Amino acid sequence: MNRFEANLRIPGPTSLPDAVREAGARQMVNHRGPEFAVLQNSIIARLKTFFKTENDVLIVTAAGTGGLESAIVSFLSPGDKVLAVTIGAFGDRFAKIATTYGAEVTKLAFEWGKAADPAKVREALVAGGPWKAILLTQNETSTAVTNPIEALAAVAKEVAPDALILVDAISGLGAVPFETDAWGLDVVVSGSQKAWMVAPGLTFVAVSPRAWEAAAVAKMPKFYFDLMAHKTSAEAGQTPWTPAVAVMFQLDVALQLMEQETLAEIWKRHAAVGAAVRAGLQTLGFKLLADQEFASDTVTGAWIPEDLDWKAFNGKLRKYGLVVAGGQGALKGKIFRIGHLGHVTVPNILNAMAVLEQTLIELDRPVTPGAAVAAAQVAALKALGVAG
Ligand SMILES: Cc1ncc(COP(=O)(O)O)c(C=O)c1O
Repeated sequence: MNRFEANLRIPGPTSLPDAVREAGARQMVNHRGPEFAVLQNSIIARLKTFFKTENDVLIVTAAGTGGLESAIVSFLSPGDKVLAVTIGAFGDRFAKIATTYGAEVTKLAFEWGKAADPAKVREALVAGGPWKAILLTQNETSTAVTNPIEALAAVAKEVAPDALILVDAISGLGAVPFETDAWGLDVVVSGSQKAWMVAPGLTFVAVSPRAWEAAAVAKMPKFYFDLMAHKTSAEAGQTPWTPAVAVMFQLDVALQLMEQETLAEIWKRHAAVGAAVRAGLQTLGFKLLADQEFASDTVTGAWIPEDLDWKAFNGKLRKYGLVVAGGQGALKGKIFRIGHLGHVTVPNILNAMAVLEQTLIELDRPVTPGAAVAAAQVAALKALGVAG
């Protein structure tokens, strides 16, 4: 056990506010009874405001990957042509799920660290089809890049208007600007352990009327992840299978906290912590992975310098309570990532920068004490519009 307070800076699960943690310890209720129905109806109505949608939002007990799988099996049929736009490991995963269930997937992959280019997406859409669906990732957690979803969706609507737009918004929705209805997105998936400040266990799926029409004729095999079954149950205030009730209790409280803060302030806070992390890491001499024009405000990835002993570095970070994430897929062992979403403040980030600074100095690297903390704070104040 570590005797220092943990600063869990991975891109989910995120640390939980005390009130959220305590809510998870509540006594169970009958998930087929009136109390649960009131809870679920209230949560769904409030999730809609954060999704910026009037579409149905369903709560499925599963990891985010289950939400992605539900989106594939509920709306598509084997042999359907799908354009999977991928900029990293999670885009690849979405494509793989569609392939696994027999969709005819064309993968449009971009270099890791870059965002998807709407012009290239247009070319790919024009070159093939007819497309049943296009798969997009809002925030690619493996590369710390946020895609221009509005522009990508606009291209899809123009060139392939019949294609459903399915978006993995698991690690960005609720933290950074996102508009389900205004951008015309058909299916949007998020996950409880990310911006929502709740334990893992729930995935949220927004579904447009157009997607429901597709569901009526979709032939992919499905059972647990059949969203039609979830819709029917939700209309009766229930879920088809036993839900993660304790996580629902937590979500109820987390949404109250988010409502108190307001979505505009939440977006602003994430812009500030994102700017702070990027400025601090660069001041420490790290090169960032992401194309800075599309840098994510929920996670940042930095290259591990060749002459830095990662094991010794990470061991010292952990000794000081700072937990960061490694790289995924092709980036394993090459980068590290700092998560900054959900329950996170600018001072939390300044603490993380102080730990990084202290650790690097202890490893005899040429770092000026306080410089990264100062740079991070200045960047955050600028993002907040506060004179520093
Ligand atoms: C963008 C993105 N998609 C999908 C997932 C998968 O979610 P889960 O691990 O809950 O299945 C993650 C999790 O990190 C993610 O960040």
